[in-house]
Amino acid sequence: MNVLTTKAGSRRTREARAARTRRNVWKLEPDDKTLFWYGRAVAAMKRKPIADPTSWRYQAAIHEYVRARDPLADTTDVLPSRADQRTFWTQCQHGSWYFLPWHRMYLHHFETIVATEVAKLSGPADWALPYWNYSVDENSRLLPVAFRSRGLADGSANPLYVAERDDRCNAGHQFADGRDVELGCLKEPAFDASGGSASFGGPGTDFEHSGDVVGALEATPHGSIHMAVGGVSGGWMSQFYTAALDPMFWLHHANIDRLWEVWLKRDPGHVDPKTKKWLTSVAFKFHDVAGKVVTMKPVQVVDTTAAPLSYVYDDISDPLAETRRRAMIASGGAPMAKQRPAEMVGATTNGLELGAGPAHTELLHRAAVRMGAPGGAQKARRAGRRQRIFLNVENITSAEGAGPYDVYLNVPARADRHVGEDLFVGRLPLFGLTEASRVGTTHAGSGLHYVFDVTDLYERLAAQPGWDPNRLRISFVPKEQRLTAKVRVGRVSLYLE
Ligand code: C2O
Repeated sequence: MNVLTTKAGSRRTREARAARTRRNVWKLEPDDKTLFWYGRAVAAMKRKPIADPTSWRYQAAIHEYVRARDPLADTTDVLPSRADQRTFWTQCQHGSWYFLPWHRMYLHHFETIVATEVAKLSGPADWALPYWNYSVDENSRLLPVAFRSRGLADGSANPLYVAERDDRCNAGHQFADGRDVELGCLKEPAFDASGGSASFGGPGTDFEHSGDVVGALEATPHGSIHMAVGGVSGGWMSQFYTAALDPMFWLHHANIDRLWEVWLKRDPGHVDPKTKKWLTSVAFKFHDVAGKVVTMKPVQVVDTTAAPLSYVYDDISDPLAETRRRAMIASGGAPMAKQRPAEMVGATTNGLELGAGPAHTELLHRAAVRMGAPGGAQKARRAGRRQRIFLNVENITSAEGAGPYDVYLNVPARADRHVGEDLFVGRLPLFGLTEASRVGTTHAGSGLHYVFDVTDLYERLAAQPGWDPNRLRISFVPKEQRLTAKVRVGRVSLYLE
């Protein structure tokens, strides 16, 4: 028996065991009814009152609810009790290693509620949430057609349509760019990390609604797609408290959930946290489709094929297979030694303001002598160690929402926004910016914090003539020039692992 048959065989067993298969929305057959039934179920959920846990608005409020800013608020609304609101609403986990398991639980309950509506409407019994894979090509980044038009062919309102999106979405134009959907997060070796290092799934925290350090997947493509769909002028997908009111939210999150499976499968070294703290120390509460309170812990959602989840994705193949093969050859297949905690080797002394144009700052580099030697990381790699360099952008705050900024290293003064493609570090999506900036009972309001692996770029810069190991110039360029909000960056720092 060859390997391929074995794989296909086990795939079939997985699908047979699972009750539902989540499929790529762009690959549904023309006569496929998945979105038709989704729309009908959404319409039914929208007709239910907000206090009903299976209603559209209640489901969105689980993510976050702010009465004063609820775009659908109505004087006739009867809200759940304060205690219920505290227990079941505004629960989404961000800036945390619970980001992935919590959203998985959230999707599971939502999918079950939608599927039950579908079955009630005499639809198929195995309805599953489709996912939106926007990382394939330019066309895959467009908003799927069924979500764009205000009305349906029969003249009724389209339940999947939302006017509060970046105008280009509903017009069928490009609104996201390659940087919004890039999948560098899949290369992060560790699920969680602390203290200046990057990670796939976010830092170890307690229950954390709007934490500061954003995991690699949560940043891009997760946060960047939120901001791209919602746009910079307050569209629903751009804020926690309205995001899940957009039916597209759920297809976006199905893809984020799928990317967790892709990450796990693409490298045997990629594993979920094994600690009790992650697996069982925090219990999250939801309502099941019958209105019964369910308590869930991450340990119950690590296997999607097992009950209570019982679903698979139609495709969890590695989108970076080719780059991975090349990297293995370059590293001679040397196993990576266990990572050591990162150490800060330089930081800016002042904060800076970001606005509608590019902004720059300089980082003074204390340990530059040690770090500056060209080829340092290469040497470490040859010795079987993996020395990585991280750029941290810390304490990003704002009173208003703001759109993404791109970060560059050592862009020459006066270069315009298209210069420095090879000096690009990463994108700051800034999804959750106002939430992370607010001082609350569980949050210090310290803002967002992004971590970028700059090892390769740094090595390249250090090998160039005129390299000054004591100064590193960092530039922030807005993705869209139409930004107006004032954003403050507390500090930029460099860490060596
Ligand atoms: Cu809780 Cu995509 O956000």
